[in-house]
Amino acid sequence: MQRKRLTAPDITASKGNRRLVVITAYDAGQAGLAEAAGADILLVGDSLGMVVLGQEDTVSVTMEQMLHHAAAVTRGSGKALVVADMPFLSYQASVEEAVRNAGQLMKQARVQAVKVEGGGEICPQVRAMVSAGIPVMGHLGLTPQHVAALGGFKVQARTAIAAKRLLRDAMALAEAGCFALVLECLPAQVAQLVTRELPIPTIGIGAGASCDGQVLVFHDLLGLYEGFQPRFVKRYAELGRLAREALTEFAQEVRSGNFPGPEHSFDMAPEELVLLLSSLEES
Ligand code: KIV
Repeated sequence: MQRKRLTAPDITASKGNRRLVVITAYDAGQAGLAEAAGADILLVGDSLGMVVLGQEDTVSVTMEQMLHHAAAVTRGSGKALVVADMPFLSYQASVEEAVRNAGQLMKQARVQAVKVEGGGEICPQVRAMVSAGIPVMGHLGLTPQHVAALGGFKVQARTAIAAKRLLRDAMALAEAGCFALVLECLPAQVAQLVTRELPIPTIGIGAGASCDGQVLVFHDLLGLYEGFQPRFVKRYAELGRLAREALTEFAQEVRSGNFPGPEHSFDMAPEELVLLLSSLEES
């Protein structure tokens, strides 16, 4: 019997009991693969912009793009919790916009939760979305939507003052109702402290081994993304190289005439072929 989908409360309740596996996904096929591997959460990250759409960062990703890809991930899965990133400027400008856009992701793409980047400054939006019945995951540390303000993709909270500020933001997000929190690119000691203090699970990426779960980008962990690889990425396969080799072999076989072979072709019944050829001779 197919087990029912995990819910945001299930994820919160898992704190201290088991480590959470989070994998990003951007289409139905990837969702099916990640879910079959046992992912608890499928994150339709706005990393979509970089690993799928060829953009240099996540800033240009739109609501339409997120809706399109998130709907595919929902269709391609049945057990994992599907969380969609809210794209840059879909929630920062006002509480109303945040609720409307998050609601659209739930209504149209049928995701079960959304993720937002930021600390205390977005707590009014988090509270309003949670009150509207929308589970919200937070994201602190290196928040790629702030790449211009942060001056690049860099490790965050390296000083005691910055780490205390991050801990305050994390507590504020939990109090505002977030069910889980992504911690990206932090010293392992800071992530450990936040994980210890917080009542909700932390999901680390470049934040050490003490988090309650870990997330990696699908393309990074399978070796499909050939752009910049941060130190925190572990490649569990080299599918990019395998794909290049297979595609090159196809191109060579097409040019040499070795593909398609008889086993990839269809035959006409011999009597129909005789009829065809004789009728062509007569005409
Ligand atoms: O966009 C994304 O894929 C993310 C994860 C890396 C946490 O936010």
